[in-house]
Amino acid sequence: MTRVQLLTDATTQPLRDQVPDGCALVIFGASGDLTRRKLVPALYALAHDGLLPGRFVAVGLARREKSHQVFRDEMRAAVDQFSRLRPLKPEVWDRLAQRLYYVSASFDDAAGYERLRAFLVDADREHGTAGNRIFYLATPPVAYASIVDRLGAAGLVSDAWDGPRGGDATGKGQGWSRIIIEKPFGRDLSTARALNADTHKVFRERQVYRIDHYLGKETVQNILTFRFGNSIFEPLWNRRYVDHVQLLVSEDLGVEGRGEYYDTAGAVRDMVQNHMLQLLSLVAMEPPATFEPDAVRDEKVKVLRAIRPVDLTRAGSVTIRAQYVSGSQGGRKIPTYADEPGVAEGTATETYAALRLEIDNWRWAGVPFYLRTGKALPKRVTEVAIQYRQPPLLLFAHAEHPRHEERDVIEPNRLTLRIQPDEGISLRVGLKPPGPRISLVPARLGFVYRDTFGVDPAEAYERLLLDCMLGDSTLFIRRDEVETAWALVTPVLEAWAAAGRSGLASYPAGSWGPTEADRFIQADGREWVNP
Ligand code: BG6
Repeated sequence: MTRVQLLTDATTQPLRDQVPDGCALVIFGASGDLTRRKLVPALYALAHDGLLPGRFVAVGLARREKSHQVFRDEMRAAVDQFSRLRPLKPEVWDRLAQRLYYVSASFDDAAGYERLRAFLVDADREHGTAGNRIFYLATPPVAYASIVDRLGAAGLVSDAWDGPRGGDATGKGQGWSRIIIEKPFGRDLSTARALNADTHKVFRERQVYRIDHYLGKETVQNILTFRFGNSIFEPLWNRRYVDHVQLLVSEDLGVEGRGEYYDTAGAVRDMVQNHMLQLLSLVAMEPPATFEPDAVRDEKVKVLRAIRPVDLTRAGSVTIRAQYVSGSQGGRKIPTYADEPGVAEGTATETYAALRLEIDNWRWAGVPFYLRTGKALPKRVTEVAIQYRQPPLLLFAHAEHPRHEERDVIEPNRLTLRIQPDEGISLRVGLKPPGPRISLVPARLGFVYRDTFGVDPAEAYERLLLDCMLGDSTLFIRRDEVETAWALVTPVLEAWAAAGRSGLASYPAGSWGPTEADRFIQADGREWVNP
């Protein structure tokens, strides 16, 4: 692949040039997987890069009794195991560890919130965190509403969503409060609305940061810079030139011990409603007037609103759902989904979903967006493929073609935004190979993130935690976005629930999904782009 040559010396830039206010980050669910695998390693990376505020504490909160030191030891082991910046640097860890604390409390026990309050008041005094607080809900979602309610009742939440930069070293004053809420945000439209309503009893929208970690991925943000920072692609980014768009999030693993959670979710709740519709909105949105949080989110939500409701009478031509049965993946055997621990007997939960969506707006009318995601597929890949139209004249009748039986077809241009792994962008073009004949072969122009910048992109949670500390909600989901996305998928989920296993296809683990899905796109005269 062609290597991109940078025209400046700057290969990387600091995540942000602003330093956040002093603040306390309270993590509810400190003994959970997210805290170990993502949140504390992200704090470590921020500390490593000098991006944490000088006045900062992180407080883990969970039911079990343990000392600060035991919590620190556990978190050190987690960073050792999961950080992208290994081996761990003891001096960086020690600096972070001194600001890492643990409070034992049950989420629904008022006394625990009193202990938390006393702790935070002390922290304001000792660490100068100035009454600024971020509450991070990393618990099972059933606990969200009651945590919010208790936080409010304990007087732990101020009205302010922002404050003077630099914080208040005296620890006086009320400070600001923000809340980060993990996905899943509800399980359908009505539960999402109820959670929004409960959250709004205590927090104002500007204080609420609904997280979707896909938005923190560097290459997802690159969709916007690529589109709006260059003038040659945007004029071609519409129905006149684009034949269709494919979004693929494939995962090679099965449910791997998460059967109990996954069986209540399925591919649409787990991936489509959030990550994939977010990707779609970035690919399809109009240019915002500015990069202010609401300007960007206004444009994203307009796209979501313009998606035509899925025609449920056409299930099978606009939606496919399937479940994997045993198969092998990279030499490993993956058991049948229905046999996984925690999965209900007779389960109808989809581990694979494909949807054909239409966006009814001026730019995209008539251009289908195919969304496809699944567990136990051949590879872990997330990519967006923009497939351009066929050239209007087939001048090169002898074009060489990977599908040799179709010599009169030219492979149309395709722009691929690879979100992960091997993050990058490539453009398929037709070129003449050496020789006396005029013929055409497909070739690729491309940029690979790691080759160009010499580093791997930072983890999504680093960027998102930092943005929240800075009070920047651009990469978080606004209330109307989450509800609009649920409004689109809820009727589909309800129809599937009503149909049970009837209409549920199957595919062997390690394959690219059910044959029904191939027929589904072939009926439109198109093919899946399998990386
Ligand atoms: C999570 C889903 O939101 O995203 C998981 O709950 C999924 O099921 C994960 O595996 C994928 O994230 P990533 O960053 O590994 O692509």
